[in-house]
Amino acid sequence: MLTFENVSQHYGSFRALNGISLHAKEGELVVLLGANGAGKSTIFLTASGLLRATGGSIRFRNQELAGLKASQVVERGVVLCPEGRKLFPQMSVLKNLMLGAYVHRGDKAGNQRKLQEVFELFPILAERREQTAGSLSGGQQQMVAIGRALMGRPQALLLDEPSLGLAPLVVKQVFEVIQRINRAGTTVLLAEQNAYAALKIASRAYVIESGRIVMEGDRDTLLGNDTIRKAYIGA
Ligand SMILES: Nc1ncnc2c1ncn2[C@@H]1O[C@H](COP(=O)(O)OP(=O)(O)OP(=O)(O)O)[C@@H](O)[C@H]1O
Ligand SMILES: [Mg+2]
Repeated sequence: MLTFENVSQHYGSFRALNGISLHAKEGELVVLLGANGAGKSTIFLTASGLLRATGGSIRFRNQELAGLKASQVVERGVVLCPEGRKLFPQMSVLKNLMLGAYVHRGDKAGNQRKLQEVFELFPILAERREQTAGSLSGGQQQMVAIGRALMGRPQALLLDEPSLGLAPLVVKQVFEVIQRINRAGTTVLLAEQNAYAALKIASRAYVIESGRIVMEGDRDTLLGNDTIRKAYIGA
């Protein structure tokens, strides 16, 4: 249902994506593995309309996304939770969450329902709703970032390194939440350095090197692959 076909992306004359073709089927959790600089974030920025593809096609439920503005991509059900969280630290948790609902601002009742769902998923955010986002712990800030993306009502959620910089126990919680979101029916595309934890909850994965897909397979195939184990799992 989310399909990249031969997508290219450039920063000036530097080719960051070189003919990326990948897909996520309805309800799947698909992981993107790749070293620093491989192009994972560029894939997400391009899909979410924050960068314009320099070639190829990105379709979601047969609608073309390439060329749309970021807000139009959200309206079509594809929402990015960006690397580094990108919160407004001086604003309250609640205001940060509501920013994610901007494209649905006409539907106040729907946004209140969605907010309750986010608070059920992350009870700590309900308690801290009036606090500034910047005063929260790293893990709580990541929950705000995921919650803000959920306020956009994703049918496909793009999660860019949600476990980055978090303590192991918090990483585990974040992966549990991602799995819950996926099991509730949201298709997930997840970029992660934490390959083992990501693969364990994945349906399938792609390995990206220098802007190209170099390997793809289902979870068990990649978990059992020697190259993957050595390069990304360290076992
Ligand atoms: N704004 C930019 N201007 C120029 N080059 C960029 C820009 N953003 C990324 N790049 C380059 O594009 C390539 C892909 O970067 P990208 O951020 O997509 O990688 P990544 O896989 O997300 O890496 P990381 O794991 O470090 O987040 C890298 O070589 C990077 O240096
Ligand atoms: Mg990145």
